[in-house]
Amino acid sequence: MGQGSVTVRVPAKVNLQLSVGPVRRDGYHELATVFQAVSLFDEVVARPNPSGGVRLVISGEGADLLPVDDGNLAHRAALLVAENLGVDPDVELALHKAIPIAGGMAGGSADAAATLVACDALWRGGLTREVLSGIAAQLGSDVPFALQGGNAIGTGRGEQLTPVLSRGSYSWVFALADGGLSTPAVYRECDRLREGRSVPNPYVSDILMQALAAGDPVLLGKALHNDLQAAALSLRPALSALLDLGDDLGALGGVVSGSGPTCAFLARDDEHALDLAVGLTSTGMCRTVRTATGPVVGARVVG
Ligand code: C5P
Repeated sequence: MGQGSVTVRVPAKVNLQLSVGPVRRDGYHELATVFQAVSLFDEVVARPNPSGGVRLVISGEGADLLPVDDGNLAHRAALLVAENLGVDPDVELALHKAIPIAGGMAGGSADAAATLVACDALWRGGLTREVLSGIAAQLGSDVPFALQGGNAIGTGRGEQLTPVLSRGSYSWVFALADGGLSTPAVYRECDRLREGRSVPNPYVSDILMQALAAGDPVLLGKALHNDLQAAALSLRPALSALLDLGDDLGALGGVVSGSGPTCAFLARDDEHALDLAVGLTSTGMCRTVRTATGPVVGARVVG
């Protein structure tokens, strides 16, 4: 594996709950969030770069919109692994994207997590999950979860994870929008909408935990909640009609995913998800739809 190439697959995430608390001293918001990793995957192939340095090549969903220098989290992830291992960061990273860009599904974070795992394997670093998770947290709030996958509660700025056991598998439809939303801009809009109001500390919903423990999609659909949704709708008013449409089509629940603009709809089962996907596509209110299931494991070497 060390001399050849390493392929790592990494999932997108949806926040089943995203409760946003007060702004902290460091500018981040205190969160109580529940992540679920879903089966929309990006893939990173890492191989030695004989020319030296990090070379990033991107294909797939929105590839031409992304930086390939250290403005890309995956590039920075490779440098951090090399620094931790005390090796030269000579790696070619071929990144294939299926997760929407700036879509609220943590695609950039996923690519960083996949790169951490891929470079560690390529360079035979043997870094523990704890060390990788520490590096992940330096890169971004959602990167540790992309490593871990499954279902997890995220506290702090979202990087402190507690795994959550859940029963069963959930069927999702994701409605992808034209163009993304900037996460900092959505948080700023959230602050603006809340101006003058006191913001309580966020906590995880008991009903949501019960739904996951019981494997009850109907209860989970009712418990979906996102404090950033009002801000995303304020910046993208058309999303409101899309959420209404999902409701009319019989989704068990619908919510803006993370900071948006992707909207996530929970279905009863895979067949229902396909019906929902057809209904959502036929109206032309979203760019495209994807069906997926969750939870799935985090960034893993494949093949
Ligand atoms: O951690 P990450 O770099 O992914 O966060 C992107 C941006 O999202 C931050 O710069 C900040 O504006 C916002 N954010 C926040 N509070 C969090 C997580 C993210 O305000 N808990």
